[in-house]
Amino acid sequence: MSSESNGGGVCVGLMSGTSLDGISAAVARFTPEGNRFRADLLAFHVHEYAPEQRDRLKAAMQSATAREYCRLAVDFGGWLADAAVQVLAEAGVARAEVRAIGTHGQTLWHEPGHSTWQLDAPAVIAERTGLAVVSDFRVRDVAAGGQGAPLVPAFHAALFGTPATHRVIVNIGGIANITDLPPGGPVSGFDTGPGNALLDLWCGRHRGTPFDAEGSWAATGKVAPALLDALLGEPFFAAKPPKSTHRDTFNLAWLEGRLKAAGWRGEADDVQATLVALTARTIGDAIRTYAPGAQEVLACGGGANNAALMKALEAELKPRRVATTETDGVPVEHVEALAFAWLAREALAGRPGNIPAVTGAKGPRVLGAIYPR
Ligand SMILES: Nc1ncnc2c1ncn2[C@@H]1O[C@H](COP(=O)(O)OP(=O)(O)O)[C@@H](O)[C@H]1O
Ligand SMILES: [Mg+2]
Repeated sequence: MSSESNGGGVCVGLMSGTSLDGISAAVARFTPEGNRFRADLLAFHVHEYAPEQRDRLKAAMQSATAREYCRLAVDFGGWLADAAVQVLAEAGVARAEVRAIGTHGQTLWHEPGHSTWQLDAPAVIAERTGLAVVSDFRVRDVAAGGQGAPLVPAFHAALFGTPATHRVIVNIGGIANITDLPPGGPVSGFDTGPGNALLDLWCGRHRGTPFDAEGSWAATGKVAPALLDALLGEPFFAAKPPKSTHRDTFNLAWLEGRLKAAGWRGEADDVQATLVALTARTIGDAIRTYAPGAQEVLACGGGANNAALMKALEAELKPRRVATTETDGVPVEHVEALAFAWLAREALAGRPGNIPAVTGAKGPRVLGAIYPR
């Protein structure tokens, strides 16, 4: 059987998340095994943004003219194409073997219940690479009444679900989301709130670095319980799933408003320590409330590299085992890019990529627009 007819083959995933750290690019070979699959990673690369690239994407999240949106989309498509070309060269696979590139695009706007917008240029990527491209994964779910997010749970279930253990996968990007994987199902999941977004912004303001490496600055501060309570007052945390969020809710203006309302006069590193506690607590609360039977929590996303955050998560979730997706041999940075490679594969096969119980959509939907090779 050819790899095309049995659903196997190689796909590329391109992800640029809310952290705006760069483009994560993965090449994976998917091999069907019964009604599951094996994902063999062939190459992975993060193409970090230059400051001016990050600034243009950030500016477009505030407001821009039609001219700038259009020009940025095409330029961004070029950056994505570069990332795809480079990661494919590293993978050393023949173009003929590659079935598609799945591109997430850059979320510029996310308003659950109304609209979501991922800036992208699939036509540019298709032309530049000579490959089929699948893009715009979220809009169909939103059109079907869903949140359009998170979309990673179906992939988490397919890759990390096991009958032996009740697992929860926690993806800690700019925003954090959980996927509950009880043996035998049903799969559920939702966004829990900020992952690294506030940590990065506060660190950028006070330390001038894009993130707090290993959480070492946060570790010099002390959690301020009254401030933590004030931050936890945000209605998003108490809202019932399905729910999703974006950096147009959790940003510096949000944090400054809460600091002011709490009459905060303390040290910047105590705020950073409290933001670590906020991410850990909101993930912990989500798991205690919606996945109480979880035995094992596996973290992924860049936030899993933050030692202070992982320590806080362990304390929150005791006695559950807290580890990372490395447990299953999948490095934490790879998971989301792999998910979009996999979603491209699902789109080509005409299979749904959303889980209605997660997003709240009216039903399962095949996600994405296909630009043929
Ligand atoms: N060594 C590290 N120490 C602390 N935080 C890290 C480290 N490496 C990555 N991160 C965090 O992970 C973020 C990137 O994570 P990622 O999963 O790519 O998120 P997104 O999907 O939002 O782009 C960075 O912005 C940073 O906050
Ligand atoms: Mg990223």
